[in-house]
Amino acid sequence: MSDDSLSSHLHEMDLSPAAEFTAQANGTAQMYDDAEADHEGFWAAQARERLTWATDFEQTLDWSGAPFAKWYVGGTLNVAYNCVDRHVEAGHGDRVAIHFEGERGDTRTITYADLQKEVAKAANALESLGVSTGDRVAIYMPMIPETVFTMLACARIGAPHSVIFGGFSAEALHTRIADAEARVVVTTDGQWRRGKAAPLKAAVVAAIAHDDSPVEKVLVVKRTDSEVEWDDQRDVWWHDLVEAQSDTHEARPMDSEHPLFILYTSGTTGKPKGIFHTTGGYLTHAAYTNAVVHDLHPETDVYWCTADVGWVTGHSYIVYGPLANGATQVLYEGTPDSPHQGRWWEIVEKYKVSILYTAPTAIRTFMKWGADIPAKSDLSSIRVLGSVGEPINPEAWLWYRKHIGGDRAPIVDTWWQTETGAIMISPLPGVTTLEPGSAQRPIPGISAEILDDDGQPFTEPEKVGYLVLTKPWPGMLRGIWGDPDRYRETYWSRFGPKYYFAGDGAKYDAKGNIWLLGRVDDVMNVSGHRLSTAEIESALVSHPSVAEAAVVGAADETTGQAVCAFVILRGEAVDHGEETVQELRNHVAQEIGPIAKPRQIMIVPELPKTRSGKIMRRLLKDVAENREVGDVTTLADSSVMSLIQQGMSADSAD
Ligand code: WT7
Repeated sequence: MSDDSLSSHLHEMDLSPAAEFTAQANGTAQMYDDAEADHEGFWAAQARERLTWATDFEQTLDWSGAPFAKWYVGGTLNVAYNCVDRHVEAGHGDRVAIHFEGERGDTRTITYADLQKEVAKAANALESLGVSTGDRVAIYMPMIPETVFTMLACARIGAPHSVIFGGFSAEALHTRIADAEARVVVTTDGQWRRGKAAPLKAAVVAAIAHDDSPVEKVLVVKRTDSEVEWDDQRDVWWHDLVEAQSDTHEARPMDSEHPLFILYTSGTTGKPKGIFHTTGGYLTHAAYTNAVVHDLHPETDVYWCTADVGWVTGHSYIVYGPLANGATQVLYEGTPDSPHQGRWWEIVEKYKVSILYTAPTAIRTFMKWGADIPAKSDLSSIRVLGSVGEPINPEAWLWYRKHIGGDRAPIVDTWWQTETGAIMISPLPGVTTLEPGSAQRPIPGISAEILDDDGQPFTEPEKVGYLVLTKPWPGMLRGIWGDPDRYRETYWSRFGPKYYFAGDGAKYDAKGNIWLLGRVDDVMNVSGHRLSTAEIESALVSHPSVAEAAVVGAADETTGQAVCAFVILRGEAVDHGEETVQELRNHVAQEIGPIAKPRQIMIVPELPKTRSGKIMRRLLKDVAENREVGDVTTLADSSVMSLIQQGMSADSAD
C-alpha cells in the first residue's frame, strides 16, 4: 500500500471501541482518574483485589531508598499458591490451565488440579536435590509443560529461577549460570524444531565443564529421546526423580520483596545484565495488566501468547499473569511454519483462541506468506489481539486487524521491557480509540514523559525525545543481580535520579498519543529480541582472525532490525572471502547463539572513527542501509568511508 492510500484508509476507519465490547471490558476510563488521584491507593487496591496474601502489607510503597523500591512492605504471599492452588480451592480444579500442543502434533491437557500436583512434585524434587529458599536454579528448556512446572516449583520454594532461552549457546549459558551462581540446572535432552530433534543438554554439559562451575545437579526431562552424555553423580532424569515424589507440597509464604527470578538481557556493554524481579509487586503488575490490557475473562477466554518462556513476555504473559488470573491458555512448542505455514491458524481454530498476543516480526512474516493462509482457518473466536516487542508499523497493524482480527478485534500495542516487568504503555480495549502504529498512553497507574536533550519534558507534537518513567511501579526491576551501581548508572542517571531512562526514543502526535521510535542506545531489536552491539563486537573480536569489529542494527523488512558487522582482519589473517565471512558468522552463533548471527559481515580495511577514537556507527548504518553516507567531517580520516564503500562487493547474506 502506498503512503497516500494507507493514510486515507486510516482516515476512513472507525477505531473507537464497540459499545458491546466496552460493556464487558475489564478496563474502564474511570481507572485512569482513580490512579491519577491516588497512585499508591490504586496499586494497593490492585494487589488486594487480584492476589491472595498470607499476611496483608502495611505500607504500599517504600521509596525512601530510591531508586531501590520496596512494594507492599510487610506483606507475604506465595506466587505458586496464587497461580495454582487457590484456583483449585475456589472450585476451578477442572478448568484447563494449559492446552499443550507439541510441534509434532502430540497434545496434553492440564487442568488446574493437574497443575497443582505437577508443581508439588517438581517442588519436592528440587528440594530433594538440595535446593532451598534463596538458591538459584537455571532453566534451559523448550516450550513444554515441564518448563512451566519448574518455574512454578521454584517460585513455590522461593528459589529464584534464571530462565535462559534455548537459542543461546553453551558459552552464553555459562556466563549466565556463573553470574547467578545457580546450583541446579533443569534442561531436556533436546527440543523439536521443524520436525528435527535439536540437542539441548549438550550445551549444558559444555557450559558447566568450566572448573569454577557452581552447578551440582542437572535435572533432565526426556523430550526427544536423543543420546545424551551422562554423569551418574551429577545428572538425574526427571521421569525417575519427579515422578517418584509426593504430589502434595506446602507453599510457604515469602516476603513481598523476596526475589522471584533473574532474567538476563543485553545492555550497552558486552556483559548481559541480570534483571531481577521480586514477588508481590511483580505478580500484582502482571496479573492486573493481563486482566485489563488483554481483557482476560478466565471463565470464557482461551488465551494464547506465542512468546518463548525464555523471554520476559513468556514469564509475565504465559506463566505468571495468566495463571494468577486462572486463565485457560495454549502452549505451543514449535515454529509457525511446522509442518506448514498455517499451523498457528489451525491452533486458533482448534482451541477457539479468543485472545492472541504476538510480535510484529511474526505478523510481517505472515504478511509475506499471504492472507490466503489464515483465510483457510476459522478465526472467528478471536476478540482481542496484542502486539509486543518492537514498534508495529501501520501496514502490519492493518493487516493483523483485517486478516486475523476479522476487521473488528481491538489491537493492543503494548510497550514495556524486561526491566519494567509488565506492560506500561498500551491502549485499553473497550476504552481507547485506537491509533495504528502507536502504543498511545501509559496504562492507569503508570506515568511517562518525553524529555529533550536537556532533560526538559515537552508535549509538542512530532518533536523527538527520550521516553522516561516518572513514578515507581510495582513490577519495576529491583536491580541488576550483584551490581547495584550498574542499576543506578544505567537507568537513573541519564536525566537525574527522578527519571527512569528506558533507552527508547519517543514522540507525541497531535492527539497526544505516544509513538515509540526504537532504541537510542547501542541496543538492537532483531525480531523483538534484544541484542547488544558491544556483545556481538566482543564475540567477533574473540575470533583469532579479527582485529576490530563494529556492529550496527540495519533496518530489515521482516525482523525490524538485522545485525550488520564491519570487521578488520588481523595483519596475519588471510581473507578467504565468503568462507571467512561464514566462519565469523558461525563463531558469533557459538559465542552467543544463532539469534545473534550477523545477517551481513563486511570485511573492511578501516573503521570510521572520530579524533577521540569513537567508532561512528551512524555512518556504518548508512552503508548497511544502502543510504548516502552522512556528514563525515568529524572523522579523523575522512577517506575511510570511501575505502569501506569500495570494499562493499564482499557482501554476504544467507
Ligand atoms: C525493548 C524492550 C517487552 C517484552 C519484549 C521485549 C522495544 C517493546 C514495544 C512496543 C515499540 C517496543 C523497546 C524496549 N519494545 N515493545 N510495543 N513498541 N517498542 O523486551 O527484550 O526487554 O526489550 O523492546 O525498544 O525498550 P526487551
